[in-house]
Amino acid sequence: MTTDIDVVVCEVGPRDGLQMLSQFFPTEEKLAWIRAEASAGVREIEVTSFVPPKLVPQFVDAAEVVRGALAIDGLIVIGLVPNLKGAERGVELGVHKLNFVMSVSRTHNLKNVRREREDSIEDFRRIAEMLRTLPAERRPRLIGGLSSALGCSYEGSVPVDDVRRYASALAEAGADELLVADTVGYADPLLVRTAFKAVMAEVGSLPVGAHFHDTRGLGLANVAAALECGVRRFDASLAGLGGCQFAPGATGNIVMDDLCFLLDSMGLRTGVDIDRLLAVREILARNLPQIPLYGALARAGLPRNYLPAAERVQRTAAP
Ligand code: COA
Ligand code: ZN
Repeated sequence: MTTDIDVVVCEVGPRDGLQMLSQFFPTEEKLAWIRAEASAGVREIEVTSFVPPKLVPQFVDAAEVVRGALAIDGLIVIGLVPNLKGAERGVELGVHKLNFVMSVSRTHNLKNVRREREDSIEDFRRIAEMLRTLPAERRPRLIGGLSSALGCSYEGSVPVDDVRRYASALAEAGADELLVADTVGYADPLLVRTAFKAVMAEVGSLPVGAHFHDTRGLGLANVAAALECGVRRFDASLAGLGGCQFAPGATGNIVMDDLCFLLDSMGLRTGVDIDRLLAVREILARNLPQIPLYGALARAGLPRNYLPAAERVQRTAAP
């Protein structure tokens, strides 16, 4: 991580936010969104999903979106992959990170990627092996993503020991970082503390990120709990779009704009200019007039005389 920021925020709207929509979000508009958010200071964006276009037609333009995103200076471009074929597509295009997805809940894994969890671990191992054959400059970082890790709308609660066990398996198979996801918004701060502490104790220095949905209004409280555990990377989506078509009851991700405001108000630098970020919502509003856009900050605006974290940090440091 660069030293001018304290916490990485990763925009997942172009993937998680769009995957459930039946209407196609035009490719140029996806790129306008990605460019605008990158220039507001967001440094990592999950821009697409390398899944069969027959299954999710929204991502039929994956190659074009990735090419456009890779042309943006300094942006880390991420693609979701469910299997080796997806990883090969990502490598071919030159993405910086592959976000491999499997679910800790057995039922959700079967519904989502049609695999037993052990088979998904094998898929992950194959991807890691394939990546090891590439020269370093062509090798994307591999994120081991654990979906439905903190609850599942098919199974209810998910044992923390299963989360720990699959985190360990992904780490051992070659993950460069892990991402623990509350796909359907079942988590609460107590569970977040328990699960993240267990995972982080298991995988040592491997970075562990968090992906929360705000289904029951605890999204930002869960962020605060994860921060206490040492998590320094969070997924979110602008205006809280999001959901999973293979997980009933899944609603939007935590709102990127509100997440940046929370982190900033805690004195943690994200590198994001909040006013510029809020302005990007216009792209969503014009393309998705029928979809509700969430966000407390967008509704209320920044407090009068609000000082961003970076300026407050400098003032405190001044003699
Ligand atoms: N990208 C493009 N095509 C792919 C692919 C990928 N990542 N993976 C498989 N395919 C193709 C195969 O080549 C095959 O094509 P063919 O019918 O022309 O021969 C076809 O899809 C079926 O392949 P198979 O390996 O049998 O896949 P499957 O039917 O068992 O489905 C997944 C498995 C993982 C591909 C599918 O369940 C999936 O994409 N799940 C993710 C769903 C999702 O987006 N969830 C939300 C995000 S978490
Ligand atoms: Zn999600």
